[in-house]
Amino acid sequence: MKANPPSTPTVSVPARGANGPSGGFPLARILGIESSCDETAAAVVENGRALLSNVVASQIDIHIQYGGVFPEVASRQHIKTIYAIVEQALHQAHMRLEDVDAIAVTRGPGLAGSLVVGINMAKGLGVATGLPVIGVNHLEGHIYSAWVYNAEKAIPVEPQFPLLALLVSGGHSELNLMKDHLQYQRLGGTLDDAAGEAFDKVARLLGLPYPGGPSIQKAAIQGDSKAFSFPRARLEGSWDFSFSGLKTAVLRVVRKYEETGTPLPVNDLAASFQAAVVDVLLAKTLRAAHTFKAREILVAGGVSANQSLRDAFLSQSEFPVHIPHLSLCTDNAAMIGAAGYYRLAYGQMDGLDFDAMPTWPLS
Ligand code: KG4
Ligand code: ZN
Repeated sequence: MKANPPSTPTVSVPARGANGPSGGFPLARILGIESSCDETAAAVVENGRALLSNVVASQIDIHIQYGGVFPEVASRQHIKTIYAIVEQALHQAHMRLEDVDAIAVTRGPGLAGSLVVGINMAKGLGVATGLPVIGVNHLEGHIYSAWVYNAEKAIPVEPQFPLLALLVSGGHSELNLMKDHLQYQRLGGTLDDAAGEAFDKVARLLGLPYPGGPSIQKAAIQGDSKAFSFPRARLEGSWDFSFSGLKTAVLRVVRKYEETGTPLPVNDLAASFQAAVVDVLLAKTLRAAHTFKAREILVAGGVSANQSLRDAFLSQSEFPVHIPHLSLCTDNAAMIGAAGYYRLAYGQMDGLDFDAMPTWPLS
């Protein structure tokens, strides 16, 4: 099934399966813009893969006092910084706006007030230049971050279809089978918390700062992953995930320590929790790859920055594994430029009257 069928074709489209620029896709440099949550970002990507510039302004320092993202503060901060971020991305790429072939912007899912800032910026630039504007699904962006490489480095191998894609971020955890570009067969998703959300909530339980993923990873380095035997929700017969039982198990241990007034073994708890999440994600993804006869595996989204998860996939998968460069796992605009390129190549252009889609499933 093809997600979000494109509107009027605007460029000549190669046969499906041509598989990237070498397969005859049109040459294009895309300015990507991302503002769906608490990162204001812009990037220039050539042919969906080569990264010419990548600028991310994180708002973490502002939201840390709230223990999570404060939506109104986020949108106001996007407004303050977005113009400078786009300018910086063009400058770093040694380009002017006229040198770009199209503008891709995150249309959703995300915070409505944040999304509209990026969308209005993209539309404004579209009006001023006549460049095509493409609204990109943020989740599709995360998946396409695995296609992106640093233009100054050697070209890495391109992911090959059929591909089993595990997307693990702060808002989503899902398994998709991709038989070709832009095609997603959703096999399953989380029944409760997303993987990143579980990291964030458990970090809070352990008194670790936001965002929880990196804090837990750091604490886990000093901890024993076997200190606590936390549950692994296998959900046999389903491709869904569930992390709420694991979160509750951590909470129970924390309460016990609090009741007895014993200091919390934060590092051991972090390591044991992280090991349980990694086990579940790895086992289910490998099983799905076998069942659906995938050729390769792709892991993307903020949680794919987790070193333990990366190591587990790279050392235990018999399938080739593609994981984005560490700098491209969490929200960025390079991924939006990359996905926008493939959308453009397959004929999508959105005009200038599209709205933000705060809720927008991938398929
Ligand atoms: O993809 P992302 O930047 O934003 C969303 O689209 O949600 O993902 C953010 C999530 C947060 O929950 C954060 O705690 C998690 O990714 N994360 C990590 C790590 N770095 C970020 N989780 C585990 N380990 C990490 N190193
Ligand atoms: Zn994201």
